[in-house]
Amino acid sequence: MRTGFIFLFLLILSVVSGSFIKTVNNIEDFKENNPGVTLIEMDFEDQEQFVISRSYSLGVRQTGDSVVANGSNKRKWSIPQNVTTTLSYPSSGGNGAFLTYILINCEQSSNLGRAYVTSGGVGQHFIQIIVEAQVTNYFNYAAFFYGIK
Ligand SMILES: *[C@@H]1O[C@H](CO)[C@@H](O)[C@H](O)[C@H]1NC(C)=O
Ligand SMILES: *[C@@H]1O[C@H](CO)[C@@H](O)[C@H](O)[C@H]1NC(C)=O
Repeated sequence: MRTGFIFLFLLILSVVSGSFIKTVNNIEDFKENNPGVTLIEMDFEDQEQFVISRSYSLGVRQTGDSVVANGSNKRKWSIPQNVTTTLSYPSSGGNGAFLTYILINCEQSSNLGRAYVTSGGVGQHFIQIIVEAQVTNYFNYAAFFYGIK
């Protein structure tokens, strides 16, 4: 609201005073000095969203392991969504490295969501994970699969 008023000030002042930018500290002073001017409040839209950073993990790092696969994606929507992301290693199916540890760093605007393993796992050579986030305006993730080749 305050931002709307300030913008309106600048707009009015540029017309009234003929200068392009002039700041005013107090709306009441402005009204007093400009009794004939009608103030119309402007609409505003906040762009900032609450950022929740959440990390899902599974297993523990082991000697000799390394990142055998990674992946990331960023999506956003103007209306909050319930989103489901499926992550598979190896992406082409079959068997990959012996998996030790999985880390998935997520960013979303709500604190609603969960992740679960739907097949395979650490200690195996493949895994499928489903990550859900509810009522969120965006969903960013970066996933790291550690294993021993
Ligand atoms: C999205 O998730 C929320 C919270 O779990 C739920 O209340 C809502 O019904 C879901 N919306 C849809 C379209 O599934
Ligand atoms: C995934 O690994 C590639 C190199 O293989 C790297 O360029 C990329 O930045 C990595 N992605 C993330 C999210 O770390």
